[in-house]
Amino acid sequence: MAANRIYLDHAATSFPKPAAVTERMVQYLTKVGSNVNRGVYGSAFEAEELLYSLRQAVTSLFGGTDCRYTAFTANVTTALNMLIKGLLRPGDHVLVSAMEHNAVMRPLNQLADRGVRYDVIPADSCGNMLPEEAESMLRPETRAVISTHASNVCGTVQPIAALGELCRRHDLLLIVDSAQTAGLFPLHMEEMHLAALAFTGHKTLLGPQGTGGFLLRPDLVGEMEPLIAGGTGSISHLERMPDFMPDRFEAGTPNMPGLYGLYGALEARSEQSRSAALAHELELTARFLEGLRAIPRIRLVGREDTISRAPVVSVQIREGELAEAARLLDSRWGIQTRVGLHCAPLAHRTLGTYPQGTLRFSFGEGNTAEETDVCLEALEEICRTLPLRP
Ligand SMILES: Cc1ncc(COP(=O)(O)O)c(C=O)c1O
Repeated sequence: MAANRIYLDHAATSFPKPAAVTERMVQYLTKVGSNVNRGVYGSAFEAEELLYSLRQAVTSLFGGTDCRYTAFTANVTTALNMLIKGLLRPGDHVLVSAMEHNAVMRPLNQLADRGVRYDVIPADSCGNMLPEEAESMLRPETRAVISTHASNVCGTVQPIAALGELCRRHDLLLIVDSAQTAGLFPLHMEEMHLAALAFTGHKTLLGPQGTGGFLLRPDLVGEMEPLIAGGTGSISHLERMPDFMPDRFEAGTPNMPGLYGLYGALEARSEQSRSAALAHELELTARFLEGLRAIPRIRLVGREDTISRAPVVSVQIREGELAEAARLLDSRWGIQTRVGLHCAPLAHRTLGTYPQGTLRFSFGEGNTAEETDVCLEALEEICRTLPLRP
C-alpha cells in the first residue's frame, strides 16, 4: 500500500469528517447515552433538545418552514423507499430522470410489478435532462416526477427548479434525491416546489453513516402510508401509526450517536464555508478536467466543464481494464477511487458506458491542487503502460 492516502471517493462517502462530528458522537456515547421520546430524566431531555435543534437546522438548510415535517431515516435509500412506496399507488404513472441511482430505480421497479408505471425523461449524452420533453410525456394518471439532483456517475446537475415549475403547473409531486448535493448546492423546498426532498447524512453533508431523512410537504402526510411501523414513544395506547409528523415516519429507536454526529457536521459549516467548499471542489474538478484532455486514451464521460456539475468525474481508458487502473492508482500512489457501475445502471445506459462502467474520481473539501496533479500524473503513466485489452 502507498504511504500517503489521496482520497478521491467522496461521492461514495465523505472523508475525513469535520472534528465536530467525532466530538458530538463521543459526547453522546460518553455523556448522554439516552433514548429520545421515552425517558423522563435529564439526559433524555438533553438528547431530545439536540434532536430538535438538528431537525430545525436541516429544515432551514433545505428551505422547509416547519421542522416537524423533517423525518430522520438511516440513509437516503430508506428515505426514498418510504417516499416512493408511501406516496405511489397502483395505476399511478411516474416520470424519472435518465440518471437515477438504484435507490430510486429498485423501489420503483418493485412498484412496477404492482401496477405503477414509469417513463424515463430523455437526457443528452452528458446526462443533462431535456425537461421540455417531460411535458409531452405527461398522462392523465401522471402523479409524480422523481429526479436525482446530481449524478453520482458524472456529476451532471439536473434542472430541479425547472422541473419544480413544471410540477407546480401540472399539480405533480416532485421528489428529489439530494445524495450528491445536500449541503453543497442550494436546494429549497418551497422555491423549487418540491413535494419531498430526500437526503443522506454521510456524503456532502459530511456526517456519519447511518443518517439521512426527508422533508415532506405538509399536505402529503395523510396520504403517505408509513413503510415502517412500530414504537415511536408517542400515543402508545394506539396500535396504529400516529397521523402526525415526524412520528408517523420515525418508528423504532433512532441512531442517536449518528444524529449527534450529523449535528456536529452542520455546526461545522456556515453558509459561507459551504459556498467556499463548493468553489474549491469545482476548482479542483476544473483543473482535473483540463489535465485529462492531455492524456491519450482517456475518454471523459459527461460534461467537459464545471457548469451545472457536482465535483464528480468519470472516465474510461480506451482498450484498458478500469479495475486494474484503479488497483494501480491505489497500490502505487495511494489514490482511492471507485470503479464500475456505481449502483446506477440507468445512468450508464444514458451515458453509453453500460455495462463496462467507469473509473470515478470525486473531490472533497480537504483535497488539494497538488493531489489533483499527482492523480493526473498517475493516470498519464497508467495510460502509457496499461496493456491493451485482448
Ligand atoms: C445519487 C445517489 N442516490 C442514492 C444513493 C444512496 O445513498 P445511501 O447509500 O446513503 O442511501 C447514492 C449513494 O451512492 C447516490 O449517489
